[in-house]
Amino acid sequence: MTKAEFVVVANRLPVDRTVDGEGAEAWRRSPGGLVTALEPVMQKADGAWVGWAGQPDLDVEPFDFEGTHLVPVTLTAEDVELYYEGFSNDTIWPLYHDVISEPRYSRVWWDAYVRVNQRFAEASAAAAAENAIVWVQDYQLQLVPKMLREMRPDVTIGYFHHIPFPAYGLFSQLPWRRQVLEGLLGADVIGFQRVADAGNFARAVRRQLRYDTKASGISVPHGVGTTRLALAKAFPISIDASSYIELARNENVKARAREIRESLGNPKRIFLGVDRLDYTKGISHRLKAYGELLAEGRINVEETTLVQVASPSRERVAAYIQLRDEIELTVGRIDGDFDTMGHTAIRYLHQAYPREEMVALFLAADVMLVTALRDGMNLVAKEYVASRVDNRGVLILSEFAGAADELGTAVRVNPHDIEGLKDAMMRAVEMPPAEQGRRMRAARRRVLEHSVEDWSREFLAALAVFRNKREKD
Ligand code: G6P
Repeated sequence: MTKAEFVVVANRLPVDRTVDGEGAEAWRRSPGGLVTALEPVMQKADGAWVGWAGQPDLDVEPFDFEGTHLVPVTLTAEDVELYYEGFSNDTIWPLYHDVISEPRYSRVWWDAYVRVNQRFAEASAAAAAENAIVWVQDYQLQLVPKMLREMRPDVTIGYFHHIPFPAYGLFSQLPWRRQVLEGLLGADVIGFQRVADAGNFARAVRRQLRYDTKASGISVPHGVGTTRLALAKAFPISIDASSYIELARNENVKARAREIRESLGNPKRIFLGVDRLDYTKGISHRLKAYGELLAEGRINVEETTLVQVASPSRERVAAYIQLRDEIELTVGRIDGDFDTMGHTAIRYLHQAYPREEMVALFLAADVMLVTALRDGMNLVAKEYVASRVDNRGVLILSEFAGAADELGTAVRVNPHDIEGLKDAMMRAVEMPPAEQGRRMRAARRRVLEHSVEDWSREFLAALAVFRNKREKD
């Protein structure tokens, strides 16, 4: 097998497997931002991507796809249940999102997490050339950095944490907190979304492992009586802004935006929510606020519609099944109470759409609602801003989303404060165009000046320092 100078390791591969009517199989690039961000680097460095193909028991040999070498890691149905749905998405996910849903601590899930992380580490070790750079992604693979370092001391290892890192008081619930911290500290550079996340991590390392930390540096014991330096700091992720701008300028997309407004009965105001159907997104808080505004007559269904796209996610995890029931009950009640024959209060779509359709929706929407209770970054906020090439529209943004650190001109909300949220929604619908323009222009500047390419360049530059040092030693 050819070895790669640059290896990305993520739970998911950047492709989806499709099977057509005749049973013919093919691979299609999956729409994620990470894929687009890393594509140029992958092509230049002859990179490899290690990950799961998204289906249980699928055994596929490594293959090349559009200039990237893909190395599939097989997960059995049991691995999917215990490592992915269990430990990753029913322990770490709720714990790291401040226990919005109760994390379950199962020893059987933990054992599977260790086993599967080991498998990812082995696949990465086999794919990496001498002195390669390996970049591990996200909470499903927190043990991989240490495992990989033990197998391959020559490689330079980065880890990026896409979700929040919780305060120590919550993190310390985790029965395997030491192993997780040690696992992450196998990396040379550990990247977080917010400065606060990096701070929480450093505090956990000090309190739990008693290692010294200084600014972003952590002294990690390494051999007898010696230490090595690891860097833990914020590298806020972004989007491929130019692709959104291009779509927003496309005549077909603009026509589609008009068509969307017409098909909703040309309401005066459209609110929009776009989320994976996840309990971290604060969808019920937003529905509550919207329902109350209708009930109080501050808005009415003839003039206002809320479009809520909730894309299906993790549908076999109990908390997600329950959430879907709750949301759909609430939507049904609000629509039942307020709809007329010609107008709907909430157009609810439990579906996923291609990027063109999303940009058309962003252009059609007057107010974008991002009311997450906790979110690593929230790229939808940035996608909305990038798409508004007309400098119109208002972004309502939760202070609990990482994006709030960068998009200071959004209308900021605490989604738990329903009265405050309602007032913010009213302020947004009444905001004069000049003020919308001022706020949108400033937010756009930030997103355009710091796109996902800048993010990966900055992270890889930090890693290159470690690689250069290793080569000299
Ligand atoms: C979040 C996580 C990603 C994950 C994505 C979709 O953004 O940070 O690691 O891939 O959700 O979730 P899924 O479980 O479908 O991969």
